[in-house]
Amino acid sequence: MNDAAIAARGLTRRFGRFTAVDHIDLRVARGEVFGLLGANGAGKTTAIRMLCGLLPVSEGQVRVAGVDTVRHPRRARARLGYVAQGFALYAELTAEENLLLQAGLYGLSPREARRRSAEVLAQFDLTPLRSHASGTLPLGFQRRLSLAAALLHRPEVLFLDEPTSGVDPAARQQFWEVIYDLADQGIGILVTTHYMDETAFCDRLALMHAGRIVAEGTPEDMLARPLPTPMVELAGPEVRALATQLAEHAAVRDAIPHAGRLRVRLAPGSSPAAALDQFAHLAKTAGLHLDSAAAARPDLEDIFVAVLEGAAGE
Ligand SMILES: Nc1ncnc2c1ncn2[C@@H]1O[C@H](COP(=O)(O)OP(=O)(O)OP(=O)(O)O)[C@@H](O)[C@H]1O
Ligand SMILES: [Mg+2]
Repeated sequence: MNDAAIAARGLTRRFGRFTAVDHIDLRVARGEVFGLLGANGAGKTTAIRMLCGLLPVSEGQVRVAGVDTVRHPRRARARLGYVAQGFALYAELTAEENLLLQAGLYGLSPREARRRSAEVLAQFDLTPLRSHASGTLPLGFQRRLSLAAALLHRPEVLFLDEPTSGVDPAARQQFWEVIYDLADQGIGILVTTHYMDETAFCDRLALMHAGRIVAEGTPEDMLARPLPTPMVELAGPEVRALATQLAEHAAVRDAIPHAGRLRVRLAPGSSPAAALDQFAHLAKTAGLHLDSAAAARPDLEDIFVAVLEGAAGE
């Protein structure tokens, strides 16, 4: 358990009678990017705050960079960086002032604080903005500044709670390149995100639902899970009209048109080949042209929806 970046066993948090995090086990290696996913209220932030030694655990064991976070939260915090959900710096202070303040909180000497602040500003291309009030920076820069602040004390493990939320796609891409660089340096990284496309960027994933981990593995493992509801995809100029036609069909669970394509989740146990025949016939009868119709490979979102439906049904 010592050589892992993060190791948790039976991690649990109750608020009164409500269990926000329910006996989760986690293991993140050094240099690994681990994605923690789940809908609002699944328990991601609560889990992270316990892992960082910021929130007492109700039950369970945690080690971060080899340090028992439950027994020695201060020692663990010296080895980890935490970027909280939302903007956690002082909006009225400049970028540089925020870094110097944060460096002081981490116990860096004034000289070391100035040196590290300059280094992280340069590392994140923030040097020209160092005298700007942090709250006036574009969101993507604010996020980078938060990340820079979390790296001042050279942590071995990094926790990023929705670091890219609200950030435009180009800035998100840049942010992920920084995450990879940090992982390449051997830092273990736990990141939460709501963006489905970002889940594929993680080395491993865990999906949380109601405080529990309901699926875990590499993105490839996840994609290989059998789907109880097979998928087909239809394309053509009138897929919206076709979606309406298919909504009542017995073999259809749901049919969602998107960008000229109609992704159809079939009812459990349906045969894709038989359904495709029926849909083609139905389209022809209704005078709706189809460019293509074929069985579709599920993507990560399809898998997660199926897992969560399974978990909710239990
Ligand atoms: N201090 C608290 N007291 C009582 N309940 C809390 C407290 N903190 C969190 N909760 C509850 O615990 C559950 C999990 O919350 P948490 O913030 O960990 O979820 P999350 O997965 O991070 O959600 P989001 O995606 O919205 O950030 C929620 O139902 C929340 O209301
Ligand atoms: Mg959260």
